[in-house]
Amino acid sequence: MRVDPVELAVVLAALAPPGIVTGARLITPDDLGGLRVEERAAVANAVPGRRHEFASGRTLLRELLGTSEAILVGPTRAPRLPAGVVGSLAHDRALVVAAVSHDPTVRALGIDIEPTDLLTSDMARVILRDDERDVDAHLAFTLKEAAYKAWSTGPEAAMTAVIASGVRALPACRSTLSAAQIDAVVAHTRNDLQQP
Ligand SMILES: CC(C)(COP(=O)(O)OP(=O)(O)OC[C@H]1O[C@@H](n2cnc3c(N)ncnc32)[C@H](O)[C@@H]1OP(=O)(O)O)[C@@H](O)C(=O)NCCC(=O)NCCS
Repeated sequence: MRVDPVELAVVLAALAPPGIVTGARLITPDDLGGLRVEERAAVANAVPGRRHEFASGRTLLRELLGTSEAILVGPTRAPRLPAGVVGSLAHDRALVVAAVSHDPTVRALGIDIEPTDLLTSDMARVILRDDERDVDAHLAFTLKEAAYKAWSTGPEAAMTAVIASGVRALPACRSTLSAAQIDAVVAHTRNDLQQP
């Protein structure tokens, strides 16, 4: 299904808790020209599709932040954002989405987008823990990826409320995942990530 980035941006804006700015953009080779020199170097050896998603992601982040500065790749591969800003980025085959915040009370953000292709039962088994079998695997996967991004870029204590409050606002998720299930998946992800 083709998703309109404008419609997606409206949905994201409705989902975002206060103080968080979100956006969506089609991935297009046209954005390559906007890459800053240092950014271009980061994907110089990448395949075209990777260069395009990277360029559209940087374009979207710059738009949301109102900056013209380069956004380099940090040591965990998360975008290196200006001081005082937290944010997160994700792409699927056609779209990039991002969330940023200047609010000092927002300590970390995680965002994810996944295709809705049918998951095989083998994939669902990998994604879901035994105690998560009643949860939709697509939503759980998206939640776990977003939780991972927030966890890897910020203090873990900060992430749960941010992600869960965003997810709970989504009507499709609300009818599929209960608040308790969302909390459980995020808590499991945090605990699993903390295992040595
Ligand atoms: C890092 C990871 C989350 C990226 O997910 P992905 O599906 O490959 O890619 P996405 O499009 O969703 O996100 C990519 C963006 O995430 C950001 N990113 C990459 N690594 C990151 C990290 N460690 N922390 C935060 N953000 C990160 C980058 O902005 C990247 O885009 P860019 O390179 O163009 O700047 C994924 O590769 C990963 O390592 N997952 C393991 C975590 C886990 O246990 N998940 C649960 C599985 S059941």
